Amino acid sequence: MEGLADDVLRSVLTAAGGYDWCVTEFVRVTTTVLPHSCYTRLSPELKHASRTANGTPVRIQLLGSDPALLAANAAHLALLKPSGIDLNFGCPTPLVNRHRGAALLEEPELLQRIASAVRRAPVPPAIPVTAKMRLGIEDAERALDCALALEAGGVQELVVHARTKADGYGPLVRWECIARIREVVRLPLIANGEVWNVADYRNIRAVTGCADVMLGRGAVADPLLARRIRNGGEEHPS
Ligand SMILES: Cc1cc2nc3c(=O)[nH]c(=O)nc-3n(C[C@H](O)[C@H](O)[C@H](O)COP(=O)(O)O)c2cc1C
Repeated sequence: MEGLADDVLRSVLTAAGGYDWCVTEFVRVTTTVLPHSCYTRLSPELKHASRTANGTPVRIQLLGSDPALLAANAAHLALLKPSGIDLNFGCPTPLVNRHRGAALLEEPELLQRIASAVRRAPVPPAIPVTAKMRLGIEDAERALDCALALEAGGVQELVVHARTKADGYGPLVRWECIARIREVVRLPLIANGEVWNVADYRNIRAVTGCADVMLGRGAVADPLLARRIRNGGEEHPS
């Protein structure tokens, strides 16, 4: 999470346990191939096999809209052997939307071109290319098309934040839309949005049918949440 989940926070949260992997704040890819120093500043973990101190893999998140430029950045980044490269198609903030951000969700064909360009960058097969999306801009009409486009483009996992851009961070969260995507899309889906406690975790899994869940603000509000989830609701398993 931009402005929040830096390497220090990633280290503290993953040390508490319960995470399979984590992801950096996004890097804007706008006009150039960024130098390695930009990535190592964002993720000092790159100097430690792209893992936090307790060994949790850290994926690097890119945000942009130009397939060739994103591919060139991914190829350059791949030389640093990141644990994964994640493409962000879900950022709703106005500054980011000048660089498109969630606006790309109106153009599934462009999402597919971005994903396949990054996959063919070349990024070695050992480095997963994953993506994160919201459900759409104003409504969730094209959410399934976007997920299918990313699947066709070759992403290996897809995190879906169950809101549109217009939903912002408001009270409406549409877990049931993730369930509809899951019925059609084969690639592993990770459900995201409004998981603040173990009961929310159980509910989002039940509604979406997803085995995996991404924690955002809930992880910061309760640094032991992932561990409690992993331990089946108990802080200290017997
Ligand atoms: C301050 C802030 C910064 C965020 N930055 C990012 C980001 O850099 N990349 C990203 O994929 N999502 C980002 N998000 C979205 C979260 O990852 C997550 O999708 C969203 O908060 C919903 O999940 P939650 O209800 O568990 O927080 C950010 C959210 C917040 C509140």
